[in-house]
Amino acid sequence: MRLTRIAGTGHYLPENVVTNQDLEKLMDTTDEWIQARTGIKERRFVEPGTGSTDLGLLAARAALEEAGWEPEDIQFIVFATLSPDMYFPGNGVLLQKELGLGEVGALDVRNQCTGFIYGLSAADAYIRMGMYDRILLVGAEVHSAGMQMNTEGRDTAVLFGDGAGAVCLEVTDNSDSSHIIWHHLHSDGRFAEELCMYVPSAKRRPWLTKEMIDEGLIYPHMNGREVFRHAVVKFHAVIMEALEAQGLSVESLKLVIPHQANERITEGVRKRLGLSNETVYSNIARYGNTTAASIPIALSEVVKDGTIERGDFVCLVAFGSGFTWGSSLFYY
Ligand code: COA
Repeated sequence: MRLTRIAGTGHYLPENVVTNQDLEKLMDTTDEWIQARTGIKERRFVEPGTGSTDLGLLAARAALEEAGWEPEDIQFIVFATLSPDMYFPGNGVLLQKELGLGEVGALDVRNQCTGFIYGLSAADAYIRMGMYDRILLVGAEVHSAGMQMNTEGRDTAVLFGDGAGAVCLEVTDNSDSSHIIWHHLHSDGRFAEELCMYVPSAKRRPWLTKEMIDEGLIYPHMNGREVFRHAVVKFHAVIMEALEAQGLSVESLKLVIPHQANERITEGVRKRLGLSNETVYSNIARYGNTTAASIPIALSEVVKDGTIERGDFVCLVAFGSGFTWGSSLFYY
């Protein structure tokens, strides 16, 4: 039987720490408001000139080292981001070049906060079906370039941070040891405009004008309350869907790694599941919401600090723009 195991994890956060107090100087906000509503204390921002491929490359190198792989071992790349270096081509090919690989395939995933889970499911399917034995999966974001860093943009500007995470995925035939179990993916496009960025848009002529920029259409648009309301319900539902499909209980989970959207969302989900603080991972206080990067950063952290060990039962879960949401279960 062909299954997929996580062979290595890695992450990279830019050195530049931006605190809530730093944001107070740029917009009408307070550390108290941000912490009370989101749990965020600080986030990392890159220096101008650094893109999400650069961050992804550093995370990928760390994952390769942990897996004991050489770049030549990579047979395929999956790259999830909503903040690519270019409108096209995607970051996958840019990373392929930076890693100095041969002509391996590269797939770009555009599923925002659920991007890592969608990417993981695709990579897992490729490995199970025998198309590849070793895949590099990266989630990386540079949000600092695309935020409206003033009072007008404060509802989103305080939430997001830059960072990258990566995993090396390889084939295994041992179902008694580390392997990915299954994924559950969902979307509901009726809510696309609750969290979106309108331009550049190929529906418009021209697709980007100074007026659109002045109107703020190049910045994320978010209906925070609507996102919150749906997120709490869907996070819980897709975890339960995954466990019930396998006949497994919430109590059997060693760790839940939720996408880091908001501490209050994570806390609501944790309470509904009846789990302890230790069983639901949170690092949003340090990094904010890093979208497609948040789950692989968290996963890499818990591997390195020993929170999870080989064989532990883990659930990844995410919700975000689309709306899209999903979960993955695996034995680490
Ligand atoms: N600092 C200070 N005040 C702010 C602010 C900021 N950064 N952002 C918004 N406000 C103000 C609003 O203007 C509003 O003022 P008003 O009452 O005078 O109009 C007030 O705070 C309340 O705004 P509201 O949007 O109702 O707050 P909220 O309790 O819903 O919290 C979020 C806002 C964004 C923190 C919350 O809705 C949320 O976390 N949503 C989910 C967002 C998310 O996770 N997105 C990513 C999904 S993957």
